[in-house]
Amino acid sequence: MSATIPVMIPMLGEEEAQAAADAVRSGWVAQGPRVAEFERSFSALVGAGQGVAVSSCTTALHLSLIALGVGPGDEVIVPSFSFIATANAVRYVGATPVFADVDLQTGNVTVETLDRVRTGRTAAIIAVHQGGVPFDVRAVRQAAAEWGVPLVEDAACAAGSTAYGAPVGAGSLISAWSFHPRKVITTGEGGMLTLDDADRAVRLRRLREHGMNVSAADRHASAQPILEAYLETGWNFRMTDIQAAVGLVQLGRLAGLVAQRRRLAARYQELLADVEGLWAVRDPAYGESNFQSFWVLLSPEFGVGRDRVLSELAAAGVSARRGIMASHLEPAYQDAPPTDGLPNTERLTRDSLILPLHHKLTEADQDHIVGILSKLVGSSAS
Ligand SMILES: Cc1ncc(COP(=O)(O)O)c(C=O)c1O
Repeated sequence: MSATIPVMIPMLGEEEAQAAADAVRSGWVAQGPRVAEFERSFSALVGAGQGVAVSSCTTALHLSLIALGVGPGDEVIVPSFSFIATANAVRYVGATPVFADVDLQTGNVTVETLDRVRTGRTAAIIAVHQGGVPFDVRAVRQAAAEWGVPLVEDAACAAGSTAYGAPVGAGSLISAWSFHPRKVITTGEGGMLTLDDADRAVRLRRLREHGMNVSAADRHASAQPILEAYLETGWNFRMTDIQAAVGLVQLGRLAGLVAQRRRLAARYQELLADVEGLWAVRDPAYGESNFQSFWVLLSPEFGVGRDRVLSELAAAGVSARRGIMASHLEPAYQDAPPTDGLPNTERLTRDSLILPLHHKLTEADQDHIVGILSKLVGSSAS
């Protein structure tokens, strides 16, 4: 057993160090050929025609809303039960986030929770594949199409997850991905947009690079001088070639990392099955999670509150985390339009916690963690 058990450790090896060093030695460190290769490889892996690498998932979400023409006066439905970046992206374009509740078992929006908050001003939906658990893409995509509302998929956590036998991302209008170290694969910071629409991808590439009609990489690679034009106001949301070099190595690890996470998650599920008042996240009927976050939900029968569980785990050298946040409860969203209740979101964020899961987690670590949880059940009076 390790001295302390972290909640997550990124899997970074000599190969990543070598790839980053090669990029540095090549002299091409800004967005260049490695970014282009990373885009091709990642989009192929998730079954999308186009990949547009950016600086983070937050900037990917921001650009996706720009590309869909969302702006002031519009409403965008998002789950409150998500990292705050999902809601913030809506504010970046001057639109209003409207919070939808989530299903208690998947932590994801459903057709019913979305429909409840839909209005005539709904200009887009951002649905999250929370913690790697896919939302019901078939049902939600179909409903969004019937409503005539574009659907952005926040797949920040979901590289390697599947739904209906296909990778998350395949067949989506636009998906946004994160390569932050808390995710299954990482480039330090970094993000990607995947989509099938080649024309929209051209615009997204322009928007991430100051609105230029030809990328700096293409200009520098050309033997002839190319005079660029700035077709619209863009941003600098580029990924570097050093990050992409690391990302390309990480892509080769993805399947193995997901398989290992799924094995460890299955073992957690088995060990925790008999712990009263504790429900562990699992695959939905239609798909498979990469278990980017392995969360458990406590009910009153557990007998001990979530925060005390976190403290007891910390005292025993286990670095767990509170569950996913609820954006509507944060000070930054106190002036957001009132919701008519997000009971599942509030229950999940109050009563859930995320247990350690990473490639260095041993069976002894898992036994230690489950042992603490088992001892805690019903111990509130002690
Ligand atoms: C669901 C979700 N969306 C967006 C983000 C933002 O990702 P990034 O840190 O790459 O901007 C995160 C990060 O945790 C996330 O979990």
